[in-house]
Amino acid sequence: MGRAEKVVLAYSGGVDTSVCIPYLKHEWGVKEVITLAADLGQGDELEPIREKALKSGADQSLIVDATASFIQDYAFPAIQANALYENRYPLSTALARPLIAKLLVEAAEQYGADAVAHGCTGKGNDQVRFDVAIAALNPKLKVLAPAREWGMSREQTIAYGEQYGISAPVKKSSPYSIDRNLLGRSIEAGPLEDPWFEPPEEIYLLTKAIADTPDTPTYIEIGFEQGMPTHIDGERLSPVDLVTRVNQVAGEHGIGRIDMIENRLVGIKSREIYETPGLIVLIQAHRDLESLTLTADVTHYKRNLEETYGQLVYNGLWYSPLKAALDAFIQQTQQRVTGTVRMKLFKGQATIVGRQSPNSLYSPDLATYGAEDVFDHKAAEGFIYVWGLPTRVWAEKTR
Ligand code: ARG
Repeated sequence: MGRAEKVVLAYSGGVDTSVCIPYLKHEWGVKEVITLAADLGQGDELEPIREKALKSGADQSLIVDATASFIQDYAFPAIQANALYENRYPLSTALARPLIAKLLVEAAEQYGADAVAHGCTGKGNDQVRFDVAIAALNPKLKVLAPAREWGMSREQTIAYGEQYGISAPVKKSSPYSIDRNLLGRSIEAGPLEDPWFEPPEEIYLLTKAIADTPDTPTYIEIGFEQGMPTHIDGERLSPVDLVTRVNQVAGEHGIGRIDMIENRLVGIKSREIYETPGLIVLIQAHRDLESLTLTADVTHYKRNLEETYGQLVYNGLWYSPLKAALDAFIQQTQQRVTGTVRMKLFKGQATIVGRQSPNSLYSPDLATYGAEDVFDHKAAEGFIYVWGLPTRVWAEKTR
């Protein structure tokens, strides 16, 4: 008796996930392996990946284009939440995992599989995200993670694959571990494991070096409807086209590079490089539009929740009751977050230079220092007396 009869395996076309196919069959007694490769806008050609799975011994090889859902249902809610892990990482990799888990579970249910599998090792966040998301969506499914148990080195993995006709990577494989989708790239390992080592220019693909960016700024107007980005320079774009466009212009100006030491859920600190040009710009613009359209108390309260939201996404709790409750709060706050933010992109910086909204709470006749001022200055005195009263009493009693 094997560990499972029929398995849907998350598949990328790389050596590790390819080796999972014969490994599941020959070491763990799985009878049927169906691979599933998700297109999340990573720009890979998918037909070769589909064929590679079959050549590596898969019984069926599925390709699912999920880019539209990725942006609309995962990235845009995270933008509404201004979600950043440890104040910096916009979760470009983390957001893809719950969607891939959903695709795996749906395929398992459709094809009558009793397990799903992934190629994550035991050291990262992605294994947690997959396992927890799968459990949340279908707690009856088993989750198999061969690479968490097989204990093979890189060389041993390649040698194992060769026994089953899985060709080793043609060119000397890059020392980096790279994850990519439409939201950006995550780059780790190899020489980057030394936190003092400066990332070499060649690791970047989506963002230009400042030395190569244009000497004139680009202005961009990002339009939002209820907290969702909808327009660029007045033109309505689909979510996928919009993110693609912002990635392109922001990347051209060298915006969106992040080099950080981050705290993984499993307790390890890791050095991670990200390039997420569009996502960074969209979160910045969205947060600014909120400052124009939300009241002070809602803004401040929401800023506190955003930190928690980012942690939940990072820690694999996308499909959790707390996340659902935060989503309800965030949706409620977004109803009036409609308007346009104008940004200047230049030499690695996105600077907000203007914002407007039909729902603006900014009141010129209250804010002005000019003659049109309607603010009742005398009222401030009584307000300050009451506001400062506890402090005054405390001072009188303690000094
Ligand atoms: N550290 C990031 C995260 O946990 C990215 C992980 C990227 N994975 C990779 N194979 N490079 O979301």
